Amino acid sequence: MSAKTDLSVPAPAFGHALRPYFHLASECIPTNNGSFGTTPAYVLEQRIKLLHLMEENPDRWFELIVRKKLQESLAQVAPLLNVSAADLAFVNNATSGANAVLRSAPTLLAAKGHSSSVLPNGRKRSLLRLSTVYGGVRPVVQYVADTVGFNVIDVPVEYPISDDDLVGRVEQAILDEQRLGGSVFAASLDAITSVPGVIVPFGRLCALCRKYDVLSVVDGAHAIGQIELDLAATEPDFFFTNLHKWLYVARGAAVLYARKEYQSFIHPTVISFGYANPSFRSEFDYTGTADLTPYLTVPAALEFRRWLGGEQVIRERNHKLCVEAAHKVAEIFATEVLLGLGSDGTAGTGLIANMANIALPVPAGVSDETMLTLRADILQSKQIAGQFYKHAGRWWIRISVEVYNDLDDYVKLAEGIKEWLASKSA
Ligand SMILES: Cc1ncc(COP(=O)(O)O)c(C=O)c1O
Repeated sequence: MSAKTDLSVPAPAFGHALRPYFHLASECIPTNNGSFGTTPAYVLEQRIKLLHLMEENPDRWFELIVRKKLQESLAQVAPLLNVSAADLAFVNNATSGANAVLRSAPTLLAAKGHSSSVLPNGRKRSLLRLSTVYGGVRPVVQYVADTVGFNVIDVPVEYPISDDDLVGRVEQAILDEQRLGGSVFAASLDAITSVPGVIVPFGRLCALCRKYDVLSVVDGAHAIGQIELDLAATEPDFFFTNLHKWLYVARGAAVLYARKEYQSFIHPTVISFGYANPSFRSEFDYTGTADLTPYLTVPAALEFRRWLGGEQVIRERNHKLCVEAAHKVAEIFATEVLLGLGSDGTAGTGLIANMANIALPVPAGVSDETMLTLRADILQSKQIAGQFYKHAGRWWIRISVEVYNDLDDYVKLAEGIKEWLASKSA
């Protein structure tokens, strides 16, 4: 299917006028960008050109072209994170980033001068995670705990919760562990959690980690393209962010940032030539023969974003529509939007970037199976998608807003769900 790729003309207004610049089917109501991202046709076209270049001469591609292009792409991403490109490497996705960092625990223990994961008093060191950790990262923490020998501390987080309360709970968990003679070695944190889809005060959590000498591992899967980032200010030890979710880079692309002092202690999950002569970049740049063209679409994705008006314009427009859409969906459901709590207890939209969470008009006792059926049915019959999840004893839906969305997409989503629910209760 052909789609528009000509950026020499001015960009149309945000909303449905932009749909022709993506490959969305006319029946698709794309209200769930947060899950898999959406690649603009322009970016896909540039990727196809790169694939052709690769096939024209594979030796020339892998030996002479790829490394230079990887460097060019990283150099363009780095300013969006406010770090040096030398401190970044590509990984396929956030899951790979989490695996690379957390599964490097044995070498990171050495980096911190520890001979093992067990303290001299016999107690295992701990890995801390919040209960809202992404479902695919939770097992990575568990795997590392099981194989290396750590305790796992789960900090319960239920929204609505104020940032002060959240940070306070993490601090309390670190202190409680110390009181028991233990020590938290690393904390798995989010910049924006998956469900609920909310902004986390990760800068404050990173500062807390520094205070207690805990390694901060920040899952920024949803961050770049959705919120402004300044890693020089927030100073995480590790941070990874998908480029394919919110930055329009072709699918299968994320970057991993590592603080300089730890770069020689982390390794990709796939070990190859780079390990013999280790350097952060050489290890991550080559993990066996692969199609690296998604990474190389960073320049095209950023060009497309500049054409739309640039980072701030995109962020602000999507946030505005997201707040509006969330309230509209809540109105149709006769429920409520998940709002943040200020330190003084007042509710506000501080949790919302380009994703929002709305309570579903179903009783808490509805089964997971029913919700999975709802999800599959509306996807199949109406091409509508959302993230359905249970949190704090209630069912919620997470919506996402992208540049091609208009308010009526969310009206269709909410009415589609209502219709399905009515058909089941009839
Ligand atoms: C918070 C969070 N972390 C990690 C991931 C995994 O991303 P990927 O599947 O691209 O590895 C997701 C995906 O939605 C996520 O929401």
